[in-house]
Amino acid sequence: MRREIFCLPMANTILIGAQWGDEGKGKIIDVLTAKADIIVRSQGGNNAGHTVIHDGATYVLHLIPSGIVRRGKVCLIGNGVVVDPIALISEIDALREAGIQITNRNLLVSDCAHLVLPYHRALDEQRELRKGRAKIGTTKRGIGPAYGDKAARTGLRISDLMQPILFSKKLHAKIRENNSILEALGAKPINYRGVNESYLAAGKKLRPFVANTVLYLHRALQRGKEVLFEGAQGTFLDIDHGTYPYVTSSNTTAGGACTGTGVPPHRMDRVVGVMKAYTTRVGEGALPTEDRQLAQMLHKLGREFGATTGRARRCGWFDAVATRYAAMINGIDELAITNLDGLDEVDPIRICIGYRLNGKRLAVPPCDAIQLDNCEPIYEKMPGWNQSTTSARKLSQLPAAARNYVRRIAQLTGARLSIVSVGPTRAQTIFL
Ligand code: GDP
Ligand code: IMO
Ligand code: MG
Repeated sequence: MRREIFCLPMANTILIGAQWGDEGKGKIIDVLTAKADIIVRSQGGNNAGHTVIHDGATYVLHLIPSGIVRRGKVCLIGNGVVVDPIALISEIDALREAGIQITNRNLLVSDCAHLVLPYHRALDEQRELRKGRAKIGTTKRGIGPAYGDKAARTGLRISDLMQPILFSKKLHAKIRENNSILEALGAKPINYRGVNESYLAAGKKLRPFVANTVLYLHRALQRGKEVLFEGAQGTFLDIDHGTYPYVTSSNTTAGGACTGTGVPPHRMDRVVGVMKAYTTRVGEGALPTEDRQLAQMLHKLGREFGATTGRARRCGWFDAVATRYAAMINGIDELAITNLDGLDEVDPIRICIGYRLNGKRLAVPPCDAIQLDNCEPIYEKMPGWNQSTTSARKLSQLPAAARNYVRRIAQLTGARLSIVSVGPTRAQTIFL
């Protein structure tokens, strides 16, 4: 029995989503945090929504690592994250109100992280509007335009915000430039004074938390501290490997943990891939195994509504073509399967084991979005178990059909199964 997650050192672990986001990363991070010293976000921004349920309280983390819920853990927002400082302050305030202590002893923000500014949000919205039916379905948090500025070398960073005079000057130029674009798009221009004031005020509040997180991490690693890298979004939302252009704007795959924190690959010990026992996606883009009946059933149970935007998630059958590809590009060593209980009343259960495109069988997802959309899933069927799994705490307490199902999807994915989650709380977790 592999209870060693709690018994042996946890080592430096990259945790990523193996599907289209919302796999239950927050819950698994919370569980794994028990053995970690430091939890670090390396990419994404407040487009993420990671749910942790503990002691009857529900916490939805957007920018702050999910490890913050456990006392005594240090949480870092790495250089690869895009930070909306106003959103971060309100997240800190809300967590404090909920009784979570936050000081610069348990939260640090990289001075190299890029800022999300109001013109990013406005541009995100305008670009979506202009795309009409071809929209991406973004979270409208300004993530794409913020990473766009970063890549174009025209972004503002936390370090700029820490230098008020310099910041105001740079902001003024950026707002002028972006207002001409917004006006050309027929959108309202951004008011420099208001933004400058509110951002400087947020910067003042954030100052105690700002640090060189790269150095902090390396010093901690030298002292033998163990780090958990908290991925946001999921493999198929990756800017390089996802279903482009229906993706987010960062590297959500395992490599992003290195570039987004400054910790080199040889310091990483394992990659944990989190995947749901079925598939969900929020926003537009191909979802080959989408099934409206399954979605209706899950939504009726009050499940699968977005943690950030509240949108109903699209739902489909487990897609082993996708997860096998995810295992390959992330180097997944261990799998955590979540939401097994979502299939408690489904019989039979389908698993996608291949795609068919123009009469040919494909074993990997095609790169092209239209081709992926035209892929027809090839299914195998497995019997359901027609009973609740939510109180199982050992694999042997799962019905045989549920055991067979998790073993089958892990085998098709091609990585070792180490966690099965049967409910949103810490206790509802089976270690193998
Ligand atoms: P994340 O973005 O990957 O952290 O996932 P989200 O928090 O956005 O969405 C996952 C949802 O599933 C949340 O509401 C979790 O509380 C919930 N959840 C996670 N694991 C399980 C599970 O095994 N069973 C059930 N019923 N809910 C789960
Ligand atoms: P977590 O970390 C699910 C999706 C959006 C949209 C696309 C681009 O909670 O798993 P963006 O706002 O990033 O430009 O939107 O990516 N998306 C997510 N879907 N979970 C997330 O985060 C997501 N973050 C972004 O719905 O389709
Ligand atoms: Mg989420």
